[in-house]
Amino acid sequence: MEEEKKERLQKVIAQKGFCSRRKAEELIEQGKVKVNGDIVTKMGMLVSLKDCIEIDGVLLKEKEVPCSFLFYKPKGVLSTAFDDRGRKTVLDYFREEPIRLYPAGRLDQDTTGALILTNDGELSELITHPSSHLEKTYIATMKGNFSHSDKIQLEKGLLLEDGRTSPCKAKILEQNERQSKVEITIHEGRKRQVKRMFDALGYKVMDLHRSSIGFLTLQGLKEGEYRLLTNEEVSKIKELCKARKAKNVIPEYRRKSK
Ligand code: URA
Repeated sequence: MEEEKKERLQKVIAQKGFCSRRKAEELIEQGKVKVNGDIVTKMGMLVSLKDCIEIDGVLLKEKEVPCSFLFYKPKGVLSTAFDDRGRKTVLDYFREEPIRLYPAGRLDQDTTGALILTNDGELSELITHPSSHLEKTYIATMKGNFSHSDKIQLEKGLLLEDGRTSPCKAKILEQNERQSKVEITIHEGRKRQVKRMFDALGYKVMDLHRSSIGFLTLQGLKEGEYRLLTNEEVSKIKELCKARKAKNVIPEYRRKSK
């Protein structure tokens, strides 16, 4: 009799489209994954398709048709899939979709704008991987008159507590004594990165909006709305991420810590 093919638990979870492999590892460590009724917290367990995997009480089904959406996240909504305090999450907007989606990346609760949600493990993995980061454009509104010399500094890279930021592009959209608006395009994805970059220059960001991810803009969407990405768009994003990955564009702060 042919032996059942076994794969590592985190790989199977990602293959089933639940989340990226790295997120699956986090969930295992957090004790949220059960295999055949038993909680597994050790990495590397081998499972077969016959094994019954549960995450947070939800039974993983066979792989669903891959679906990816571009969502216009409103303010005040969490971009996590789980919230143990019952706050509103981006998944609340997708209740009518009969599939299990997962946000590919994060926006702060008070940040608005473009976010991809998907059940495609490969896409999620590629978007969130540090060496395959897509360009993301933000519009930051801050108090005070943002100077041209600060724009140059921002573009060159700034020293933050977790290392230097990579060079980026910036454009001043509005500038007066009361407030300024700056468009910034980065390809890293550190926690609260944009706010921390402006903070390092002495500006407090009052409002942050992500206007695009790669070539995907929010055109045609209102806050709280989403649209299905076409197969061509998904393939193009994957190609962009893979191209960056192949060039091994690892941000400086990640290189140093390894
Ligand atoms: N940078 C931030 O500071 N916040 C976000 O939500 C996204 C990028």
